[in-house]
Amino acid sequence: MTQTLTITDNRTGKQYELPIADGTIKAMDLRQIKTGPDDFGVMTYDPAFQNTASCRSSITFIDGDKGVLLYRGYPIEQLAERSTFLETAYLILFGELPSRAELDGWTRDITMHTMLHENIKKLMDGYQYDAHPMGIFLSTVGALSTIYPDAKQVHDEDIRRLQILRLIAKVPSIAAYAYRHSIGRPYIYPDNDLSFTGNFLNMLFKMTELKYEANPVLQRALDVLFILHADHEQNCSTSAMRGIGSSNADPYSALAGAAAALYGPLHGGANEAVLRMLNTIGSVKGVPAFIEKVKKGEGRLMGFGHRVYKSYDPRARIIKQTADQVFEVTGQNPLLEIALELERIALEDEYFVSRRLYPNVDFYSGLIYQAMGFPVDMFPVLFAIPRTAGWLAQWDEMLRDADQKIARPRQIYIGPDARDYVPLSKRS
Ligand code: CMC
Repeated sequence: MTQTLTITDNRTGKQYELPIADGTIKAMDLRQIKTGPDDFGVMTYDPAFQNTASCRSSITFIDGDKGVLLYRGYPIEQLAERSTFLETAYLILFGELPSRAELDGWTRDITMHTMLHENIKKLMDGYQYDAHPMGIFLSTVGALSTIYPDAKQVHDEDIRRLQILRLIAKVPSIAAYAYRHSIGRPYIYPDNDLSFTGNFLNMLFKMTELKYEANPVLQRALDVLFILHADHEQNCSTSAMRGIGSSNADPYSALAGAAAALYGPLHGGANEAVLRMLNTIGSVKGVPAFIEKVKKGEGRLMGFGHRVYKSYDPRARIIKQTADQVFEVTGQNPLLEIALELERIALEDEYFVSRRLYPNVDFYSGLIYQAMGFPVDMFPVLFAIPRTAGWLAQWDEMLRDADQKIARPRQIYIGPDARDYVPLSKRS
């Protein structure tokens, strides 16, 4: 039996039966609820889209109450333990785990696209020496749109796939160049003998040695972090990617917008903000006073809380384990003690417990990145590299979805009624 929602409009006495499918009613079904032919009909008001599904998606599932995260049905814990980032990216993009031949072909294709056009190097040379790498990253990704004008043909499946390959392959190169630029070191060309993360570390940290080979534990830890960050359904940056992509803009322009959304401290910039917060707290002794300030509304406990997770973020749990492995190689990050004490107090404190605020993915990731030698302002860039796979999968899904149109929310106008222009001489 079809489930319906019955609404009685007590302005007119009329009743409406709205079908319920997948636990939702269609917002457009509300339009029929009118007082008369001139009435526009009822809309929903949902600032920040807290209770609005903007699409149907088969990519990522989150159960925020139970702390479950699945990519295409596979639990994040299993992927983090057994998969690689490139394999997970394939899964996210194409819906199934690849066969051996598919994985080899995918890896080869990505590896073939890691080089950047030499003009991109020149473009990046123009940034200030102390430019934030995320600012460099997002504007350089946008600039790729000028190099690949074919990308405008967003309805051509083959062309879309080519841009997907280019973007996943080139974002580590852009990120590494941004980092090298900020420290005044020469750019390092990709080494196609290395793995995805091995090559990234090479482009970041190679000095005069003939061949750079990253520590395998650190390489694997970065791969795990990339798996954890690959997609997270309709968050702020993904919604930006879909929103920009819905106008049929090319994926480089859309991805620059998504990266810009990620940059903010409430989203992917949170890992950077966590490290700055831990440095400000300074020592375990400073934790209680800091918690009190947060409770008084004087700032937030960065790396805590989530719009969807109302229990422990499953990614944070895996990151905590990964941190132990990394610290065995690098030595412990001295800020870890402060983070653990913050978590201990926050998990017992009524303020955080009643609001269901738990550590999120960003709470511990920065400590690992710092121990691995990344400067703090590279952290959001390290989030953007793997999330590129998710953004592209969501963009591709949107373009295939017959329900989708250009994103165009409505508003409730609260400004003045129509009025006549007043000449400057008559204004008081
Ligand atoms: N510290 C202190 N109080 C908090 C925090 C926090 N980190 N997060 C939420 N609250 C409080 C908030 O003040 C509000 O209290 P009240 O009801 O008394 O006004 C209540 O909890 C609900 O918060 P909200 O702002 O309505 O929640 P939201 O769903 O709009 O925001 C969030 C989610 C992630 C933006 C927020 O929790 C936050 O700002 N966290 C810190 C930044 C952070 O770590 N962001 C990374 C998110 S995970 C990575 C990603 O996907 O981007």
